[in-house]
Amino acid sequence: MSMPAVNPNKALWEKGDFTRIAATMRESGEDLVKQIGISKGLKVLDVGCGDGTTALPAAQLGAMVLGVDIARNLVEAGNRRAAEQGLTNVTFREGDATNLQAIADNEFDMVVSIFGAMFAPKPFDVAKEMVRVTRPGGRIVMGNWIPNDPTLVAQILKISSAYTPPPPEGFVSPMTWGVESHVAERFGSAGISAENISFDRDTFIFRFNGPPAAFVNEFRDYYGPTMNAFDAAEKNGRAADLQRELEELFNSQNTSAEGTTIPATFLRVTVTR
Ligand SMILES: C[S@@+](CC[C@H](N)C(=O)[O-])C[C@H]1O[C@@H](n2cnc3c(N)ncnc32)[C@H](O)[C@@H]1O
Repeated sequence: MSMPAVNPNKALWEKGDFTRIAATMRESGEDLVKQIGISKGLKVLDVGCGDGTTALPAAQLGAMVLGVDIARNLVEAGNRRAAEQGLTNVTFREGDATNLQAIADNEFDMVVSIFGAMFAPKPFDVAKEMVRVTRPGGRIVMGNWIPNDPTLVAQILKISSAYTPPPPEGFVSPMTWGVESHVAERFGSAGISAENISFDRDTFIFRFNGPPAAFVNEFRDYYGPTMNAFDAAEKNGRAADLQRELEELFNSQNTSAEGTTIPATFLRVTVTR
């Protein structure tokens, strides 16, 4: 009997428990959703929705929301959180941003993907799929981390990459979604002209109830990409160096005297179909 092939993209996000990190991002998720024109009855698709950082507040505003994520554990967590909040206008389902096959053309008024679709492989397929399921005149809103940005997430990924083996040939870094020319090229190939794409710098704030070093431990123990970096560093006897570099980073970015508050800059992309 042949075993089903492992999808490394799915395995990465099911490896840990992203809900632990998402728990520190709730306020910014709510703030963002309030700014993008979500109204009662709007049909919203949230791609790479995790456990609902943006999908649940969008549903609270009255939108009809479908959250799609590749990680089964996060889909389950999202449906659990929706039930706990008594929301019946949001559903979470397993799916892949590179092929949203269960969704018909033009089905949604708005497609949202906050630090979600950027982590899928095949970025041209992702752009094509997000455009396909958005109705003409509808909008796509993406939040993408920016490569080499001095703030938290880009720096975590930069530090971690120095401890991990180089990616396989042909691998496209998720961070390229934070570069305007790449974003324009990808949506351009999906039929969107440049004047229908706009870019803004925005900020997400991570709030953790504990010191920065304890927040580093959350990433080490629960965030797939950081878990992989520690696995690789462990093999080379360099885990303590990675821990120290991350603690220095988190301490230097913390703006709060009590607990941990870290703002991080991202690229907000708005596409009108
Ligand atoms: C950094 S998390 C962000 C989650 C959520 N949007 C939030 O802001 O809390 C990235 C999410 O993208 C999902 N993801 C990664 N690759 C995906 C793909 N190919 N299709 C759908 N979701 C994907 C992961 O499972 C994970 O939930």
